[in-house]
Amino acid sequence: MLLRNTQKGMQTIIVTGGAGYIGSHTIIELLISTNFNVISIDNFSNSTSRSYQRIKEITGKSFETLDLDLCNKEKLYTQLSKIKNIIGIIHFAAFKSVPESVTDPLSYYNNNINSLTNILSFAQQQKIKNFIFSSSCSVYGNADDLPVTENTPLKTAESAYGHTKQIGEDIINFVCKANAEFNAVLLRYFNPVGAHPSGKIGEFPLNRPNNLVPIITQTAVGKNSLTVFGNDFDTRDGSCIRDYIHVSDIADAHVKALNYLIGNKNKKNVSVFNLGTGNGVSVLEAIRSFEKVSGKKLNYTIGARREGDVVAIYANNNLAKTELIWIPKYSLDDMMGSAWKWQQTLEAES
Ligand code: UD1
Repeated sequence: MLLRNTQKGMQTIIVTGGAGYIGSHTIIELLISTNFNVISIDNFSNSTSRSYQRIKEITGKSFETLDLDLCNKEKLYTQLSKIKNIIGIIHFAAFKSVPESVTDPLSYYNNNINSLTNILSFAQQQKIKNFIFSSSCSVYGNADDLPVTENTPLKTAESAYGHTKQIGEDIINFVCKANAEFNAVLLRYFNPVGAHPSGKIGEFPLNRPNNLVPIITQTAVGKNSLTVFGNDFDTRDGSCIRDYIHVSDIADAHVKALNYLIGNKNKKNVSVFNLGTGNGVSVLEAIRSFEKVSGKKLNYTIGARREGDVVAIYANNNLAKTELIWIPKYSLDDMMGSAWKWQQTLEAES
């Protein structure tokens, strides 16, 4: 991998976890709608370099890549110090499975916290001013009032994954407090799903997925079996409620957040935004939407509740709408339709 800035004087954005699900969709948006030089860092622990090829096919543009584990601080400093004109960092790289974090919490603390403190130390050392952090609605825990706003008090996290996001937010808050020049946006994703409308890229599942939508699409092609984790919750149909949001809408929010920081539009040096549609959707409703758009009947069973799950959560997204001028475009049916299209691409290639 070469580390040169493709065009002299161009401002560079570092995207960590750029081969991953949300990172790859965000690089597409960055290449299409900005003039930044993009450098992706990934160690492929839960992703594949095939994403890079797809990004190039979709955008017709090139970007640089670096195979690096952010937990290796020495290597991180050596490699990244060669890069000039870094204007911002978008930090996606992290483990992201709620159930996995319940059974193996330490790997979540080790990976998610060390990578964050290392990249933040580098940003401080290099005086990089703009930082965007992938947070999650899991920071709210089981909130008392719905929809949650950014000011809703954070309850105890239900999983180690959610806790690493709470700790990550705290770390960034303290770093910003100590450095008035350092600006951060914390993006609290609700449930990112779906795939790029082209059908050429989506999530490449390396292992058995834990998230609902890839399990639904794999079940539809006979490669998995779907269990609904609980139908005895205090919700309208007994299944958990989530705010599903299209991954391309999430990607678009990152470009807007970056321009917000670079354009000095932020009012404080830490800004927090909920990224959800504002619609609470039950697991059973999500299944019905998939069945409608795909024309496939899903066989599923009802099982026990999953440890670490919150019962219901959905966003008040007014702040992102007014401050970032971000309007989610895609409906639940669009999300399911694009996930289905992507599954068919994977089938055709397998
Ligand atoms: C959580 C986070 C989300 C984060 C995501 C990353 C919360 C509320 N949300 O999503 O912000 O982006 O992790 O992975 O913490 N389900 C089934 N059967 C299955 C799989 C899932 O019924 O086989 C149900 C779950 O119980 C849940 C819903 O589907 O109610 C969504 O689950 P999943 O897709 O795993 O995402 P979350 O854990 O909600």
